[in-house]
Amino acid sequence: MKSIVQDRYGAAPEEVLRLAETVTPAMGPDEVLVRVHAASVDRGTWHAMAGLPYPVRTAGFGLRRPKISNPGRSLAGTVEAVGADVTGVDPGDEVFGIGGGAFAEYACVRPGKLSLKPANLSFGQAAAVPVSGLTALQAVRDQGRVRAGQSVLIVGASGGVGTFAVQIAKAYGAEVTAVCSASKADMVRAIGAERCIDYVREDFADGRDRYDVILDIGGNRRLSHLRRALTPKGRLVIVGGETDGRWLGGIDRQLRAHLLSPFVGQKLGTFIASENAADLVAIREIIESGKVTPVIDRTYPLSEVAAAVRHLLDGRTRGKLVITI
Ligand SMILES: NC(=O)c1ccc[n+]([C@@H]2O[C@H](COP(=O)([O-])OP(=O)(O)OC[C@H]3O[C@@H](n4cnc5c(N)ncnc54)[C@H](OP(=O)(O)O)[C@@H]3O)[C@@H](O)[C@H]2O)c1
Repeated sequence: MKSIVQDRYGAAPEEVLRLAETVTPAMGPDEVLVRVHAASVDRGTWHAMAGLPYPVRTAGFGLRRPKISNPGRSLAGTVEAVGADVTGVDPGDEVFGIGGGAFAEYACVRPGKLSLKPANLSFGQAAAVPVSGLTALQAVRDQGRVRAGQSVLIVGASGGVGTFAVQIAKAYGAEVTAVCSASKADMVRAIGAERCIDYVREDFADGRDRYDVILDIGGNRRLSHLRRALTPKGRLVIVGGETDGRWLGGIDRQLRAHLLSPFVGQKLGTFIASENAADLVAIREIIESGKVTPVIDRTYPLSEVAAAVRHLLDGRTRGKLVITI
């Protein structure tokens, strides 16, 4: 089969990712073999590709070189075969989910990370959902505990996670203020944000406005600044934020939030998204209700995964980048 392959870690996609002919992965008894029709790129693709920050390597990706030589994870496709121990999934099912080696014609996926594809989405749209959509859902619903009528500030609203978070927060009845670059503000307004703040020209943390919930997906503002923009009993959820730090890569800020939280009135927290079928079903239902639609910036063929990752690194992406296979 055709697959993207990487033999070593490296920060430049053009230098480490190549298209190759490989054997179809051998499915275990507790796995599902999916004929992949589309996959998608997210920040995690780069982290897995680069092996950075270093804690990524100790989290199962391989210490010296990548354990799985293909950094794709979010996918959509058709079930080709089902392992002997798997129930509830049948060959021919149209599915979406999270599996290692998604930038390939076939991938093995555990049924606990797979669900039926939203009926109203193409495979390309569905492949945009799993990692970014689940992260946004859990940030809004579980960590932010967003309720109708609350004011929610979403920092990094124009990216992969952010475009889902804006729509999901709206679906929960919140009033959304988005922080993103000026060139992407129209798109972010179109998916539901009441107001957009250009982080280059305006400071959302100048203390003039306070929000019940802040989802910090990008930007790396200091905790003290974020707290200034939060109501006295508000909730801050640190989802991510890129730094050049090879060792911690922003994890230190997340740890500080976690440690400080018990001593202040505000709830400061962070989380690692849980990849599970129940939440894939939950987001499928929100999508099928028409309240959330993936925002697709561009679609690339399998041979151009490196170009897609480069586009993401350049900060030009609006929503998601999809790979068709
Ligand atoms: N906790 C978890 O389990 C989890 C799961 C998935 C992802 N993440 C993390 O979440 C982060 C976002 O991932 P993603 O896939 O959504 O990335 P992405 O698509 O590249 O989006 C990045 C976002 O950050 C914004 N941004 C960049 N610089 C900013 C600044 N100075 N101030 C405010 N916003 C700024 C960008 O806005 P413009 O493009 O408009 O400039 C864009 O909206 C990453 O750090 C990723 O590792 C965490």
